[in-house]
Amino acid sequence: MSNRDDDKRLAAYAALEQIEPGWTVGVGTGSTANWFIDGLGEVKRDVAGAVASSEASAERLRDVGIPLVELWDVGRLPIYVDGADEATRRGELIKGGGGALTREKIVAEASDRFVCIVDSSKVVERLGAFPLPVEIVPLARRQIAERLGQLGGRPVLREGFTTDNGNAILDVHDLKLDDPQGLEAELNQIPGVVTNGLFCRRPADLLIVADRGHVSHIR
Ligand code: 5RP
Repeated sequence: MSNRDDDKRLAAYAALEQIEPGWTVGVGTGSTANWFIDGLGEVKRDVAGAVASSEASAERLRDVGIPLVELWDVGRLPIYVDGADEATRRGELIKGGGGALTREKIVAEASDRFVCIVDSSKVVERLGAFPLPVEIVPLARRQIAERLGQLGGRPVLREGFTTDNGNAILDVHDLKLDDPQGLEAELNQIPGVVTNGLFCRRPADLLIVADRGHVSHIR
């Protein structure tokens, strides 16, 4: 296992300590979230169930024996745990590298605490080096791409990829993220945009960062 994979596992296992017995847990998507799911499988007696943010995470949760719960049945969750593509120390994130951003944002929003688990390569001073994923209704692809171009972005269609919601993803390069909260809101106003991968209006409450075997908690 590489250092980075080792750190993803360390951050994910550290997040298990944030869970209280009997809780239903919101679970993210991606390789770091997969480690968290594996950890949940090891402590499953303590967990009532999980709300998954993707079909892939649902399948993995099923495999490790965690009961799946629908968000509409629970309404709110005490905690949501997920990775990120970029994270500032203030908890602002870019997410969606795995294409699950819409369900991730829904579950994060429905949770009292959002714990973000990353290896140190994801921590940045300023968001924006990672191309911003935007989930779109395919019909509106051309109009949305033109609008993103006017905003200074260079949208690239994620080829051969369909989200769990049946939509497409544009990965937007070169956007200036001087006002990430403002841009998050602005992008959502474009007709046909389902969600964008800026998680700044509802940032992470706790960032767990692993750096070459050392874990730190940033609130
Ligand atoms: C999926 C995500 C992931 O959290 C993000 O892509 C990080 O993935 P990984 O843990 O594999 O590095 O937002 O939509």
